[in-house]
Amino acid sequence: MKHYHLTTFGCQMNAHDSERMKGMLEGIGYFEAGEQADADLILFNTCSIREKADSRFVAHLGHAKAVKATRPDVLIGVGGCWAQSVKDELFAQFPFVDVAFGPGQVHKLAEFLTSDSLTAQGFFEFEGFAGDLPSKRARDVQAWVQISVGCNMNCSYCIVPSTRGREVSRPFNTLVAECERLAADGVREVTLLGQNVNAYGRDLRVGGDRRPRRFSELLRAVDAIDGIERIRYTSPHPKDMREDVIRAHAELPALCEHIHLPLQAGSSRILKAMRRTYDRSRFMDRVALIREHVPDCALTTDIIVGFPGETEADFAETLEVVEEVGFDGAFTFVFSPRRGTEAASITEGLVGHEEKVERMQRLVEVVQRRGHERAQRFVGRALEVLVEGPSRTDSARLRGRSRHGKAVNFTGSARAGAMVEVEIHSASSQTLAGEQSLPARALV
Ligand code: 5AD
Ligand code: SF4
Repeated sequence: MKHYHLTTFGCQMNAHDSERMKGMLEGIGYFEAGEQADADLILFNTCSIREKADSRFVAHLGHAKAVKATRPDVLIGVGGCWAQSVKDELFAQFPFVDVAFGPGQVHKLAEFLTSDSLTAQGFFEFEGFAGDLPSKRARDVQAWVQISVGCNMNCSYCIVPSTRGREVSRPFNTLVAECERLAADGVREVTLLGQNVNAYGRDLRVGGDRRPRRFSELLRAVDAIDGIERIRYTSPHPKDMREDVIRAHAELPALCEHIHLPLQAGSSRILKAMRRTYDRSRFMDRVALIREHVPDCALTTDIIVGFPGETEADFAETLEVVEEVGFDGAFTFVFSPRRGTEAASITEGLVGHEEKVERMQRLVEVVQRRGHERAQRFVGRALEVLVEGPSRTDSARLRGRSRHGKAVNFTGSARAGAMVEVEIHSASSQTLAGEQSLPARALV
């Protein structure tokens, strides 16, 4: 009996790729090991979005090397974005690695493992979606569905277009069938994944009229599937956030009242240097349209601080936008130069480390204060919560998520996977707290 151990870094896309790797490995007879020490195959699914992701991973790889020194038969595999981004140097720098593959080549791992030749190999082609691999889902009632691979945008700071290739949408009917299968298997919440989800379908030519498909059509088709009670998606691009997608949030019962809309910067000058293809006013205009159609919609975002050339005045514009929009939450990042990207070659106007740290502190203060204020609208309301399990901080309580994407800790008794109603008593910028409504009103 062979065992594998897989460590995953990075985004939801990677988490889902790992589920597919696990499904595939178990399909060829491998079992999951609890620890690397018990594994015949030590695997990593890597990320390269920021420098910290790289350095964290290289430390893990050092540990795997030590395991291999004591057990030379162990196979070491490295997949994902970091592997793709260092593909030319990988085997020279890390000779103890047996197999390496980019995010598009997950399926090649099985080919490698089942082939006779076990000399070190790398697989780094881009060939669209790598087959319909079975997934080993982390949760019974929640599933990820990858709707497209790759990215056609050209954001000057971002390594992803070079690690995941050009954008390819998966066929419409395949996706609907996949969601139907998941629903039949008990899934109640699906998260549609893509680097730029709302660009979905533009490259498709379907039906007699050979016309492209729209993301909003896919949302409608998934909403119509019996059993799918919640639909989420990540990440959309502000430039493609058109009215049909926004209206869908108001019209489709399953589509959650939460949009993660990455801002990146509040200054139009910096947005231009980032090649985001929208400016401050266009972003604000999208926010206004969302608020008009879906007033209660939660809005979250990503922001980068200290992009090359960002002046104090530019940064002040980011603070203004965050203040004005009142995001429900934000992921904030310090700019990190990435190999091969346009922004990494900028040498003028670099923002010093201390300046970045100081700006980040000011930003986080506004993000948290506005998030806290926004969250107060939930106090006194009864929210639908999908139960995930015991609370992380207090095992006597339960934890789940509201349709707005808020983590909710509450007292009650329900199994993981149940949909319950929770009366919200208090709210912080990060979490809501409350009590499950009387069983008579439970939504199970
Ligand atoms: N430096 C800092 N943050 C980055 N992101 C992407 N590339 C970089 C980089 N080079 C952030 C963006 C993106 C999120 C996933 O990571 O905000 O939306
Ligand atoms: Fe995900 Fe980007 Fe990291 Fe790749 S580099 S795993 S796409 S966050």
